[in-house]
Amino acid sequence: MTDIQDLTKLEAEFMTAIADAVEEASLEAVRVAALGKKGRVSEMMKSLGGMSADERQTAGPALNSLKNRLTEALAARKAVLAETALEVRLATEKVDVTLPVRESATEAGRIHPLSQVLDEIIAIFADMGFAYEQGPDIESDHYNFTALNFPESHPAREMHDTFYFEPKADGSRLLLRTHTSPVQVRTMEKGKPPFRFICPGRTYRSDSDQTHTPQFHQIEGLVIDETTHMGHLKWVLEEFLAAFFEVEGVELRMRPSFFPFTEPSMEVDVRCARLGNEIRIGEGDDWLEILGCGMVHPNVLKAVGLDPEIYQGFAFGIGLDRIAMLKYGIPDLRAFFESDLRWLRHYGFSALDVPTLAGGLSS
Ligand code: PHE
Repeated sequence: MTDIQDLTKLEAEFMTAIADAVEEASLEAVRVAALGKKGRVSEMMKSLGGMSADERQTAGPALNSLKNRLTEALAARKAVLAETALEVRLATEKVDVTLPVRESATEAGRIHPLSQVLDEIIAIFADMGFAYEQGPDIESDHYNFTALNFPESHPAREMHDTFYFEPKADGSRLLLRTHTSPVQVRTMEKGKPPFRFICPGRTYRSDSDQTHTPQFHQIEGLVIDETTHMGHLKWVLEEFLAAFFEVEGVELRMRPSFFPFTEPSMEVDVRCARLGNEIRIGEGDDWLEILGCGMVHPNVLKAVGLDPEIYQGFAFGIGLDRIAMLKYGIPDLRAFFESDLRWLRHYGFSALDVPTLAGGLSS
């Protein structure tokens, strides 16, 4: 039988224990001893059942309020302990920012020159209002050739040294795209003129030597609207090349060439000086071939449902690997794809130097 005096004593005992607890574990032990399943207060509550109605009427509320007061006291003490623990941690876990970095932390990764050059080119064309498009590496004959005005069994198809997949049951063969020009067609099909975009990506041809790898990269550019002419093409290329090579100006030479999907077609050279192994763009008496371009052939426009009497424009295709080699003086293309860490450390770029026109492309 419990009387009020016992309860007062018990309460005082537990309150002292709560106040004396200096860490969460000992506080939890007090809680279990008082209010746990077999705790003193819980046991007393169980005994209420065996009491007379009279006894229960005084003991019940007394036990309940004792339980509430203990619960409150436990919670309050718990909050105090948590706060003290945090203060201790804040005081002891200081980071000394003046310590030198650990050796291993200096092994930061490098940006591959191709990724760097791609980011530079995207920054330059974005500034001229070009959007960014992409297409698949595995192409159909239609997008890689036919829609680009390559006639069936035209020798130009052989010029590309195409990697073909096994023929399907209907005789058609998928292929690894030989250039980024199919993205011209795919993008025009799903949109409406005017078009102004670049589409960089991987391209494939069965070819391998110091300046050719079976997989390489191109950047395609396309502008289509009602008023675009060849003067715009020349201006865009001049702006791009001067910005890319970070020189005041570049002089271009356009030579007549042939691509089935442009008419007229041109090969573009830039003025350069060759000093031993070094090539300097924008000075000297030499010329260096840099890209292919032309005015989009009416048949390409027709293939995507555009009326060539209304719409016209230009396209260009740049070898990404090639201009990366030129800009950063990298002599062998094959090293781009060998994942040699020593090479990457030498030719790679800091991940923190994001190329922008305002902040400098390559610095
Ligand atoms: N697709 C051409 C090639 O790979 C390059 C090119 C693109 C030429 C766009 C003209 C216009 O050879």
